[in-house]
Amino acid sequence: MSEYILEMQGITKTFPGVKALDSVSLRVRPGTIHGVMGENGAGKSTLMKCLLGIYQRNSGTIIYKGREVNYKTVREALADGISMVHQELSPIPERTVMDNVWVGRVPIKWGFIVDRKKMERDTQELFNRIGIDNIRPQDRMKDLSVAKMQMVEIAKAVSWNSSIVIMDEPTSALTNREVESLFKILRDLRRQGVGIIYISHKMDEIFQICDELSIYRDGTFVKNSNIADIDMKGLIEAMVGREVTAMYPKIDCEIGAPVLKVENLTSGKLFRNISFELRRGEILGFAGLVGAGRTEVCETLFGLHPITGGHIYKNGVELRIKSPTDAIRNKFGLITEDRRGKGIFGLLSVARNTVISNIRIYGFPLKHGKIRRDSKSFVEKLNIKTPSLEQRLMHLSGGNQQKVLVARWLLTNPDILIVDEPTRGIDVGAKAEIHSLITQLAGEGKAIILVSSELPEVMGMSDRILVMHAGDQTAVVDRKDFNVPGGDAMLLAYASSSQKQDVVA
Ligand SMILES: Nc1ncnc2c1ncn2[C@@H]1O[C@H](COP(=O)(O)OP(=O)(O)OP(=O)(O)O)[C@@H](O)[C@H]1O
Ligand SMILES: [Mg+2]
Repeated sequence: MSEYILEMQGITKTFPGVKALDSVSLRVRPGTIHGVMGENGAGKSTLMKCLLGIYQRNSGTIIYKGREVNYKTVREALADGISMVHQELSPIPERTVMDNVWVGRVPIKWGFIVDRKKMERDTQELFNRIGIDNIRPQDRMKDLSVAKMQMVEIAKAVSWNSSIVIMDEPTSALTNREVESLFKILRDLRRQGVGIIYISHKMDEIFQICDELSIYRDGTFVKNSNIADIDMKGLIEAMVGREVTAMYPKIDCEIGAPVLKVENLTSGKLFRNISFELRRGEILGFAGLVGAGRTEVCETLFGLHPITGGHIYKNGVELRIKSPTDAIRNKFGLITEDRRGKGIFGLLSVARNTVISNIRIYGFPLKHGKIRRDSKSFVEKLNIKTPSLEQRLMHLSGGNQQKVLVARWLLTNPDILIVDEPTRGIDVGAKAEIHSLITQLAGEGKAIILVSSELPEVMGMSDRILVMHAGDQTAVVDRKDFNVPGGDAMLLAYASSSQKQDVVA
């Protein structure tokens, strides 16, 4: 018997115009957590989909528990003990949590009736076993936060009692508390001898949870290493194949006149009395825990939620923003957090997705040459991996789709650019590119609002940080005050308490 539970060898997969995988391998031992690492578009998700039979590989062998397997469908793989949490969630929003967990294998009583009592019991047992205590089996999926939906997906993968569990960026929307429960689940599975394949762009997670790593670049296998034998620098080098420029490259730029003034902005129950000023060349960070209301403030500024109180002024003139069209007309740009739900037109091309918010300027009939030139320049600037500008967006890797969205809003040339979690799911190399682009834009005189759950990111990039807790503004802190040892602890304290601090708006 081999020491591996899974051996993938010489796996090659091509799509029209793309060699996604070129003879790569992956070997996973039972009872270990195996990190699969690589930049956006390296082929990580594709490799997993070849294993599961979602894609049919062109060549290569897969040996699982000592025998060769060739799954034609996910069901076959599941039945054989391999389950996966996908990078892009696909819940059935109208149904309950338990329907989502047991979809396709509901318990039947008397030969034909769905046994909902049993379903509920089983779901509750599953949740108890893995420590989920804030989701009820009867909850409707669409009422859950993205974080909770992600937890349901994870529970579902565990419920199959598989020998291999694959997690493709499972923590992208999780709060710290949920990441903790996930890690506990993973450690339990490891103890039971399950082989876990873990894909993530969050380096600290990798070093915290993985035992072994396999690293890929541009569809090729680079190397494999025990976690103890590699450090952050070595890992980044292996992934990127070059040196990465500094993260959070804050350039001091001139801060000009106030552009945006927000006074006591309130939107129903979402948040209350948010007040701040934003100047040309300034980056205002929004910090807070998931659920604090930061995204909702951004969306309201962009006309996506009704304003029920307060005022917004741009250059001293009061604005009425009732829809995104109003916001765009007033030169606001929003890079959304939830790219799948709100920003992606999967069937349209990369080029069309890049220019779509700015389509007016391309005239009627459309000037296709200019569309190509503009989108091409961003594909190059952001290093977007695509075989052509005509590729449908849905065929790009998750991180590359996100880059197209970033390009879209940069192209609208807004005065006020709101970026919500701009680097979620984006690899280290491109992260640094996006950080430096944001700082450059500030340097060109744009006013920027940056929301990020990664404290080092907001702290590294912002001139000031507005902290929120449960829909309230608890503090506004100046760079000189947070850019000191212990600054992160101070911001966290503001984010966790409803106590209002002295506001230096
Ligand atoms: N269905 C598809 N049709 C065409 N090309 C595809 C398809 N799926 C993936 N690709 C291409 O294959 C390559 C690898 O993509 P993959 O999604 O595996 O990357 P990844 O390593 O998971 O990246 P990310 O970190 O961004 O999720 C990319 O160039 C992508 O554009
Ligand atoms: Mg992927």
